[in-house]
Amino acid sequence: MSRTPKVIPFPGADENPLVLRADWLHEGQREVYDSPARFKVVVCGRQWGKTSLAALTCVEEAAVRGGKAWWVSPHYKEGDHAWEILLFLCKDIPGVQVERRPHYRVHFPSGGSVQVHSADNPDSLRGATLSGLVMDEAAKIDRQEEPATAGATR
Ligand SMILES: Nc1ncnc2c1ncn2[C@@H]1O[C@H](COP(=O)(O)OP(=O)(O)O)[C@@H](O)[C@H]1O
Ligand SMILES: [Mg+2]
Repeated sequence: MSRTPKVIPFPGADENPLVLRADWLHEGQREVYDSPARFKVVVCGRQWGKTSLAALTCVEEAAVRGGKAWWVSPHYKEGDHAWEILLFLCKDIPGVQVERRPHYRVHFPSGGSVQVHSADNPDSLRGATLSGLVMDEAAKIDRQEEPATAGATR
Protein backbone atom coordinates (compact mmCIF):
# COMPACT_ATOMS: atom_id res chain seq x y z
CA MET A 1 0.00 0.00 0.00
CA SER A 2 1.37 3.40 -0.91
CA ARG A 3 2.17 6.16 1.56
CA THR A 4 0.08 8.71 -0.29
CA PRO A 5 -0.80 11.57 2.08
CA LYS A 6 -4.31 11.15 3.41
CA VAL A 7 -7.03 13.55 4.46
CA ILE A 8 -9.14 11.06 6.35
CA PRO A 9 -10.05 11.66 10.00
CA PHE A 10 -9.37 8.94 12.52
CA PRO A 11 -12.37 7.20 14.12
CA GLY A 12 -12.41 7.66 17.86
CA ALA A 13 -11.03 11.17 17.69
CA ASP A 14 -14.55 12.60 17.59
CA GLU A 15 -13.88 15.76 19.52
CA ASN A 16 -10.88 16.77 17.53
CA PRO A 17 -10.64 14.71 14.37
CA LEU A 18 -7.07 14.22 13.39
CA VAL A 19 -5.95 14.40 9.84
CA LEU A 20 -5.15 10.84 9.24
CA ARG A 21 -1.64 9.97 8.38
CA ALA A 22 -0.38 6.45 8.69
CA ASP A 23 1.24 7.47 11.97
CA TRP A 24 -1.84 6.77 14.12
CA LEU A 25 -1.62 3.06 13.42
CA HIS A 26 -0.24 0.96 16.23
CA GLU A 27 2.63 -1.40 15.53
CA GLY A 28 0.42 -4.39 14.76
CA GLN A 29 -1.88 -2.42 12.47
CA ARG A 30 1.15 -0.95 10.75
CA GLU A 31 2.49 -4.41 9.98
CA VAL A 32 -0.79 -5.34 8.27
CA TYR A 33 -1.10 -1.97 6.54
CA ASP A 34 2.45 -2.14 5.15
CA SER A 35 2.20 -5.71 3.93
CA PRO A 36 2.12 -5.89 0.12
CA ALA A 37 0.11 -9.13 0.28
CA ARG A 38 -2.93 -9.29 -1.98
CA PHE A 39 -4.98 -11.08 0.65
CA LYS A 40 -4.65 -10.17 4.32
CA VAL A 41 -6.27 -12.20 7.10
CA VAL A 42 -6.20 -10.52 10.50
CA VAL A 43 -7.01 -12.72 13.49
CA CYS A 44 -6.66 -10.56 16.62
CA GLY A 45 -8.58 -9.93 19.81
CA ARG A 46 -11.48 -7.61 20.43
CA GLN A 47 -10.65 -3.91 20.37
CA TRP A 48 -7.38 -4.56 18.59
CA GLY A 49 -8.36 -2.13 15.85
CA LYS A 50 -9.33 -4.53 13.05
CA THR A 51 -12.46 -2.68 11.97
CA SER A 52 -10.74 0.71 12.13
CA LEU A 53 -7.82 -0.50 10.04
CA ALA A 54 -10.13 -2.19 7.55
CA ALA A 55 -12.30 0.91 7.23
CA LEU A 56 -9.26 3.06 6.60
CA THR A 57 -8.02 0.61 3.99
CA CYS A 58 -11.37 0.65 2.20
CA VAL A 59 -11.70 4.41 2.19
CA GLU A 60 -8.11 4.85 1.11
CA GLU A 61 -8.59 2.48 -1.81
CA ALA A 62 -11.64 4.40 -2.98
CA ALA A 63 -10.82 7.99 -2.03
CA VAL A 64 -7.12 8.06 -2.82
CA ARG A 65 -6.77 5.52 -5.60
CA GLY A 66 -10.22 5.76 -7.17
CA GLY A 67 -10.94 2.08 -6.61
CA LYS A 68 -14.20 0.25 -6.17
CA ALA A 69 -14.30 -1.28 -2.70
CA TRP A 70 -16.86 -3.37 -0.87
CA TRP A 71 -17.33 -3.79 2.82
CA VAL A 72 -19.04 -7.07 3.67
CA SER A 73 -20.38 -7.65 7.17
CA PRO A 74 -22.01 -10.90 8.27
CA HIS A 75 -25.41 -9.37 8.99
CA TYR A 76 -27.34 -6.17 8.50
CA LYS A 77 -26.67 -5.06 12.08
CA GLU A 78 -22.89 -5.17 11.74
CA GLY A 79 -23.18 -3.56 8.33
CA ASP A 80 -25.06 -0.69 9.92
CA HIS A 81 -22.20 -0.21 12.37
CA ALA A 82 -19.65 -0.30 9.55
CA TRP A 83 -21.69 2.27 7.64
CA GLU A 84 -21.49 4.68 10.57
CA ILE A 85 -17.71 4.25 10.77
CA LEU A 86 -17.31 4.79 7.05
CA LEU A 87 -19.44 7.93 7.18
CA PHE A 88 -17.30 9.24 10.01
CA LEU A 89 -14.13 8.52 8.08
CA CYS A 90 -15.49 10.23 4.99
CA LYS A 91 -17.26 13.23 6.43
CA ASP A 92 -14.43 15.71 5.95
CA ILE A 93 -13.34 14.56 2.53
CA PRO A 94 -14.21 17.34 0.08
CA GLY A 95 -16.74 16.40 -2.59
CA VAL A 96 -17.80 13.14 -1.00
CA GLN A 97 -21.33 11.98 -1.90
CA VAL A 98 -23.38 9.68 0.31
CA GLU A 99 -25.97 7.39 -1.28
CA ARG A 100 -28.45 5.39 0.82
CA ARG A 101 -30.75 4.03 -1.89
CA PRO A 102 -30.67 1.66 -3.59
CA HIS A 103 -27.26 0.98 -2.04
CA TYR A 104 -25.35 2.11 1.00
CA ARG A 105 -22.47 3.59 -0.92
CA VAL A 106 -20.06 6.51 -0.63
CA HIS A 107 -18.70 8.13 -3.80
CA PHE A 108 -15.48 10.13 -3.94
CA PRO A 109 -14.26 12.79 -6.35
CA SER A 110 -11.53 10.33 -7.36
CA GLY A 111 -14.26 8.24 -9.03
CA GLY A 112 -13.90 5.56 -6.39
CA SER A 113 -16.60 4.22 -4.10
CA VAL A 114 -17.15 2.11 -1.01
CA GLN A 115 -20.34 0.07 -0.75
CA VAL A 116 -21.58 -1.76 2.33
CA HIS A 117 -23.10 -5.21 1.98
CA SER A 118 -24.23 -7.85 4.41
CA ALA A 119 -23.54 -11.50 3.69
CA ASP A 120 -27.02 -12.55 4.77
CA ASN A 121 -28.06 -11.46 1.28
CA PRO A 122 -25.61 -13.67 -0.64
CA ASP A 123 -27.03 -12.98 -4.09
CA SER A 124 -26.02 -9.36 -3.66
CA LEU A 125 -22.39 -10.49 -3.39
CA ARG A 126 -22.07 -11.91 -6.87
CA GLY A 127 -20.95 -10.49 -10.15
CA ALA A 128 -18.94 -7.44 -9.15
CA THR A 129 -15.41 -6.57 -10.22
CA LEU A 130 -13.67 -4.94 -7.29
CA SER A 131 -10.32 -3.45 -6.49
CA GLY A 132 -10.77 -3.83 -2.73
CA LEU A 133 -12.79 -6.05 -0.43
CA VAL A 134 -13.11 -6.14 3.35
CA MET A 135 -14.86 -9.05 5.04
CA ASP A 136 -15.27 -7.91 8.62
CA GLU A 137 -15.99 -10.58 11.25
CA ALA A 138 -15.30 -13.09 8.48
CA ALA A 139 -15.58 -16.07 10.82
CA LYS A 140 -19.31 -15.37 11.02
CA ILE A 141 -19.74 -15.35 7.24
CA ASP A 142 -20.87 -18.55 5.54
CA ARG A 143 -17.79 -20.00 3.87
CA GLN A 144 -19.75 -20.67 0.70
CA GLU A 145 -19.86 -16.96 0.05
CA GLU A 146 -16.14 -16.32 0.44
CA PRO A 147 -14.90 -17.51 -2.97
CA ALA A 148 -17.80 -15.84 -4.75
CA THR A 149 -16.75 -12.51 -3.39
CA ALA A 150 -13.00 -12.75 -2.90
CA GLY A 151 -12.56 -14.12 -6.41
CA ALA A 152 -13.97 -10.93 -7.84
CA THR A 153 -11.13 -8.74 -6.62
CA ARG A 154 -8.45 -7.65 -9.05
N1 LIG B 1 -4.20 2.80 16.47
C1 LIG B 1 -5.16 3.12 17.34
N2 LIG B 1 -4.90 3.96 18.35
C2 LIG B 1 -5.85 4.29 19.25
N3 LIG B 1 -7.14 3.83 19.21
C3 LIG B 1 -7.46 2.97 18.21
C4 LIG B 1 -6.50 2.57 17.22
N4 LIG B 1 -7.11 1.73 16.36
C5 LIG B 1 -8.39 1.61 16.79
N5 LIG B 1 -8.61 2.36 17.88
C6 LIG B 1 -9.86 2.49 18.66
O1 LIG B 1 -10.02 1.26 19.39
C7 LIG B 1 -11.39 0.91 19.47
C8 LIG B 1 -11.57 -0.50 18.89
O2 LIG B 1 -11.30 -0.46 17.52
P1 LIG B 1 -11.99 -1.48 16.48
O3 LIG B 1 -11.42 -1.15 15.16
O4 LIG B 1 -13.47 -1.47 16.65
O5 LIG B 1 -11.42 -2.87 17.02
P2 LIG B 1 -11.81 -4.38 16.62
O6 LIG B 1 -12.57 -4.32 15.32
O7 LIG B 1 -10.51 -5.09 16.48
O8 LIG B 1 -12.61 -4.91 17.76
C9 LIG B 1 -12.17 1.98 18.72
O9 LIG B 1 -12.65 2.92 19.65
C10 LIG B 1 -11.11 2.62 17.81
O10 LIG B 1 -11.42 3.98 17.53
MG1 LIG C 1 -14.43 -5.02 14.71
